[in-house]
Amino acid sequence: MSIKLGDTAPNFQAESSLGDINFYNYLGDSWGILFSHPADYTPVCTTELGYTSKLQSEFAQRNTKVIALSVDGVEDHQNWIKDINETQNTDVQFPIIADKERKISELYDFIHPNASATATVRSLLIIDPAKKVRLIITYPASTGRNFNEILRVLDSLQLVDNYQVATPVNWKNGEDVIVPPAVSTEDAIKKFPKGVTEIKPYLRYTPQPNT
Ligand code: BEZ
Repeated sequence: MSIKLGDTAPNFQAESSLGDINFYNYLGDSWGILFSHPADYTPVCTTELGYTSKLQSEFAQRNTKVIALSVDGVEDHQNWIKDINETQNTDVQFPIIADKERKISELYDFIHPNASATATVRSLLIIDPAKKVRLIITYPASTGRNFNEILRVLDSLQLVDNYQVATPVNWKNGEDVIVPPAVSTEDAIKKFPKGVTEIKPYLRYTPQPNT
């Protein structure tokens, strides 16, 4: 199955390092991050999971629950987590799905046969509280992802949903945002009391509304 932006993220039931999980129940009303790994006991994944664990309070501030996936079993996951905690100086609290039969990997298109017939690629989805898929990224096995970028996208998506703005290149929380094309300059001036700067009729900035 090929999942695209705007699709409903499919629910599933799976074993995990924290016991059996129903994906929707785990997410509840939160935002969610589902991310796949090639395998347990691999170096790049060890650093990614460790760093994600260190960002737990950042994800919590953004009402976001994290869940990882790897195609090994529960026992391997639990032993690997001990290594991650030891080597990355953290305490992994989020579950890692044990997808030994690759059912969820196939459901979410995490196996790209021309990259590897068996291992999952490094994919990551952001799922909103309505269970809609809002971001999909896929990296090669040899390149670790940038989880600060994932926080940045979460900030952008949550801002866009709340204030009808868009965010420009390399935007960071606190910086000016863009008035989207659907909002006329006349309406923007009423909607954004901090002011609107018009560079071109189609390129308009306003200070971030919630700072
Ligand atoms: C890793 O997950 O650490 C990894 C996987 C494939 C190639 C290199 C590193």
